[in-house]
Amino acid sequence: MAYPFTLPELTYPEDALEPVIDRQTMMIHRTKHHQAYINNLNKALEPHADLHSLCGGKLCRALSTLPESIRTAVRNNGGGHWNHKAFWTMLCPASQSGAPSPALAAAIDSSLGGIEAMKTKFGTAAASRFGSGWAWIVVKADKTLAVTSTPNQDNPLMSGFVEVEGVPILGLDVWEHAYYLNYQNRRPDYVSAFWSIVNWSEVSRRFADTTV
Ligand SMILES: [Fe+2]
Repeated sequence: MAYPFTLPELTYPEDALEPVIDRQTMMIHRTKHHQAYINNLNKALEPHADLHSLCGGKLCRALSTLPESIRTAVRNNGGGHWNHKAFWTMLCPASQSGAPSPALAAAIDSSLGGIEAMKTKFGTAAASRFGSGWAWIVVKADKTLAVTSTPNQDNPLMSGFVEVEGVPILGLDVWEHAYYLNYQNRRPDYVSAFWSIVNWSEVSRRFADTTV
């Protein structure tokens, strides 16, 4: 049973991503912001026992079929939960960042023009997302990769609600709550620094899981 949703444990210490993400930002982001999405998602789903077996990803995929009375709440808070839960796993201490698997590196070359071109496209998507949202690398239905961004807590799993649909393998939170203590208005600096703490082992695993 997925319901009630709970805050997942980190697989690294709260300060392990410093100096890219400082301990206080991580603590507030996870235990206040992420926890609030979980609380609000649980509250929205409480009267809907028929939905309690669905995980966050399935709720996002099923958004268009959900009762209209809870659709916006699930979009914002189910998205908020899935996005942050995935995000924490996509990060790791810089010393463990590693590199894309050979299969993922080949896909990055063929779909995105190589790793440097990928970083440029992703950086543009992250920097140009107006207001709050996320930048993503997704695997599309045709198995190619694409760079996209979504507003608020939307994600590319939300079929019918987003410009580019697909399975996210890498995401970056560009809400101000993710970086403002350390970077203030310098979102591009946060985006650049992010690459050093990408958990390429996890991103490669997510890529492999979408292509089997
Ligand atoms: Fe966030």
